[in-house]
Amino acid sequence: MSFEADATEDDAICDALAARGFAVAPDFLSRDAVSALRAEALRRRAASEFHAARVGRGDAMQRDAAIRGDEVCWLDAQAASAPERALLARLTALRLALNRTLFLGVHELEAHYACYGPGAGYARHLDRFSDDDARVISLVLYLNPSWREADGGVLQLFASREARELALVVAPRGGTLVALRSDTISHEVLAAHAERWSVAGWLRRRT
Ligand code: OGA
Ligand code: MN
Repeated sequence: MSFEADATEDDAICDALAARGFAVAPDFLSRDAVSALRAEALRRRAASEFHAARVGRGDAMQRDAAIRGDEVCWLDAQAASAPERALLARLTALRLALNRTLFLGVHELEAHYACYGPGAGYARHLDRFSDDDARVISLVLYLNPSWREADGGVLQLFASREARELALVVAPRGGTLVALRSDTISHEVLAAHAERWSVAGWLRRRT
């Protein structure tokens, strides 16, 4: 199984990231790819491989559903199934395009599935930790083939940590990829009213 890489699409993502700090590609993955990955996520959840997401790092790590209500399952390249390997390969192509065009020097990807149940969201935050600046670009790929407006769960982007005005609102529709700068683009997930599935990933540099 492979998810076809699209150099034109990757170039457009690089351009938007350079110009605005974020990019949205509505058809990054095909319907078939989305349903294969969603099935993998459901299978892993049924096998109890998901756990409540925590906020912070190290000693400061805690569970706080008022801040962040999703459940996650980290992707392990060694244990990846065929659709997961195809996804990792596709995201590696994007990583290399970013290095080629924007000289980001990102050398690895960490990624997890996330499931937000009804009522769950993620309060406004930046993805870069205060004590670790390895994360350069954040990626979110949605696995919801028939998301409706009434299902809520939109991602709101702000152009900076301080910005009060919204820069963009993205619905978590299946196949859509969002890429954003981990250090500057703050963002928030509004409460979902239906199960909301995704893969979130971070491209990291050596620190
Ligand atoms: C995250 C995050 C956004 C989304 O996992 O850090 O901000 O739309 N996710 O799921
Ligand atoms: Mn985030």
